[in-house]
Amino acid sequence: MSDNTAQREFWNGPVAENWIARATQFERSFRDITAALTAFAAPSAGMKVLDIGCGAGFTTAELARRVTPGKAVGLDISKTFIDAARTLYGGAASFIEADATDYPFTPAYDLVFSRLGVMFFADPVASFANIRKSLKPGGRLAFVCWCAMADIPALNEPYLAARDLLPAESPTSENAPGPFGLADSARTQRILADAGWQDITIERATLRTLLGTTVEEAIDQTMTMGPLSRQVRDCGEATKLAVRARIAPVLEKYRGADGIAPPAAVWLVGARA
Ligand SMILES: C[S@@+](CC[C@H](N)C(=O)[O-])C[C@H]1O[C@@H](n2cnc3c(N)ncnc32)[C@H](O)[C@@H]1O
Repeated sequence: MSDNTAQREFWNGPVAENWIARATQFERSFRDITAALTAFAAPSAGMKVLDIGCGAGFTTAELARRVTPGKAVGLDISKTFIDAARTLYGGAASFIEADATDYPFTPAYDLVFSRLGVMFFADPVASFANIRKSLKPGGRLAFVCWCAMADIPALNEPYLAARDLLPAESPTSENAPGPFGLADSARTQRILADAGWQDITIERATLRTLLGTTVEEAIDQTMTMGPLSRQVRDCGEATKLAVRARIAPVLEKYRGADGIAPPAAVWLVGARA
């Protein structure tokens, strides 16, 4: 058994419900990240693709469209997300509620894909070794994960601007399972090599995250993603209003032609089974 209990609990219930309710805004924010990962992963017609940590299934359905007449399968540890994925995209793709660390994979897939879904494993080497079992010989892994928080103005700057208004956070250890769990690319390289992967490539990309067409929309989005969202969740209305006022000028700096779009640095990681 894996020890991903804390993540299973975190990604079930209110956090996932919030993501699902704001799916349109999340997809808009992640549009450039999704496009970069899709180009990097290069899914093609006839492939069978596994989407790890698929969330509500948007990327899985998009993969299914691209690989027709192949097949896309989404796997996620969260029942809340998998229930939503089946409702929203069950006609296009199939979905498995399971922990990627210990699901009994057989070598059925050509490509393993993940958008921000593989940074949460308590034991990354065991998890990536298990995921490798899902691929046919020569099959490929392609995922995107966040770089360090300091390199993601979209998440870091609002957080720093509002931090003193928020309850103190208990310190987490570097590389702990979480959004920045694979921020150290040298460590990611070692994890994948130790898990038996070949031809590992790790590329850095800095991409726009369109948080909203207006500052108000961008604030709403910022309050529901990343470290700030975790901090602000249990605060009272007065604190939430103070946080909004504090982050508005920070986001305003990133106004572009189509809205508020601060940059975010990500790693595009590839390997062969
Ligand atoms: C940041 S969300 C990304 C969701 C989706 N890929 C997207 O981009 O919208 C991370 C996802 O990883 C899933 N996850 C975390 N640990 C997992 C595990 N051990 N096995 C499978 N899924 C996991 C979570 O439930 C969550 O859906």
